[in-house]
Parts: sequence; C-alpha cells; structure tokens
Amino acid sequence: MEKTLIILKPDCIQRGLIGRVVQRFEDKGLNIAGMKLMHISKELAEKHYAPHQGKPFYPGLIEYITSGPVVVMVLSGVNVISIARKLMGATFGFDAEPGTVRGDFGASKTFNLIHGSDAPESAETEIALYFKSDELLNYSTAAEGWIFKPGEN
Ligand code: RTP
Ligand code: MG
Repeated sequence: MEKTLIILKPDCIQRGLIGRVVQRFEDKGLNIAGMKLMHISKELAEKHYAPHQGKPFYPGLIEYITSGPVVVMVLSGVNVISIARKLMGATFGFDAEPGTVRGDFGASKTFNLIHGSDAPESAETEIALYFKSDELLNYSTAAEGWIFKPGEN
C-alpha cells in the first residue's frame, strides 16, 4: 500500500488545529500507520529540506519548521500521496482552494500549516527520516473494504 509522510507544522499545533486536520484524513478514509508529537532538530530539518538548500526561502523554512512541536504521521492507502496533497491544497494559503487545509486555515507565505510528500521516492526518504520500521503499523479497519475496492486501481 502506498505511504506518505505528513507533518502538521508548528503553526498548526500552536493554533490548536491538530484534531480538525487529522479529522479530514480520517474522513477521507486514509489509514494512519504511524503518528507522533516531536520537535524537529536543525539537523533533521536540514536533511528533510535538502532539496531546497540554496533557495532564498531555505533559511526561513528551517527556522519555521524547528520553531515548535510538530505532529508527524504516516498515512497509507491507494493513491495516498496525491489524495493527501489535494486535501492540503496549494503551497500558500492565499492560493489554496477553499475546502483544503491551507485554503481554509492559511493566508501566509510562510505559515502553511502542513507538509505532505510529493512522490513515492520522496515519501520513502522522508518516512525513513522520522520513523523506525517498527513504529509503523500494518492493520486493517472494518470500513476499508467500503473505501478502497480491491482491484479497482
Ligand atoms: P511541503 O513540501 O511543505 O508539503 O510544501 P509544498 O510541496 O507545497 O512546497 P515546496 O515547493 O516543496 O516547498 C517546501 C516548503 O517551503 C516553503 N516555501 N516557501 N517563500 C517561498 O517562496 C516558499 N516556497 C516554498 C513552504 O513552507 C513550503 O511548504
Ligand atoms: Mg514539497
């Protein structure tokens, strides 16, 4: 099953939005394979955002993501990477469509509430940065047969 790394960024925690954002992923029927509250170190942030090193916004991005506790999650499901990105919305809240996390809760170019992996390769790399394999659980839910039809995709 496809997996993706989601981070509820420091502004999401400070604004008391953890429950409302997680609710959206649960409502969609995505399976939570791993979840924890943590404070991202500068070293870990630099590994995560290595693809953006050298860009003008990079120093501010490292400062932001390390500025307070975050919730990191691994979600699993068919097409979960693109489904999660659609639920998150465009990168900046002022561009993001209403109905998305960023579109409903964000307006800033810096504080954009949430991260989601953008491809299977980045998902694999990012998940390994935050979770040991024994912290990820494979389990079935009673509803999943009514959310993902076997063989459909
Ligand atoms: P993310 O990686 O956080 O899920 O966001 P994304 O794919 O929508 O955006 P990406 O292009 O990967 O950029 C990573 C994060 O860098 C910050 N950013 N700031 N000021 C700027 O022009 C700018 N561009 C990107 C955002 O925090 C973005 O989420
Ligand atoms: Mg990205």
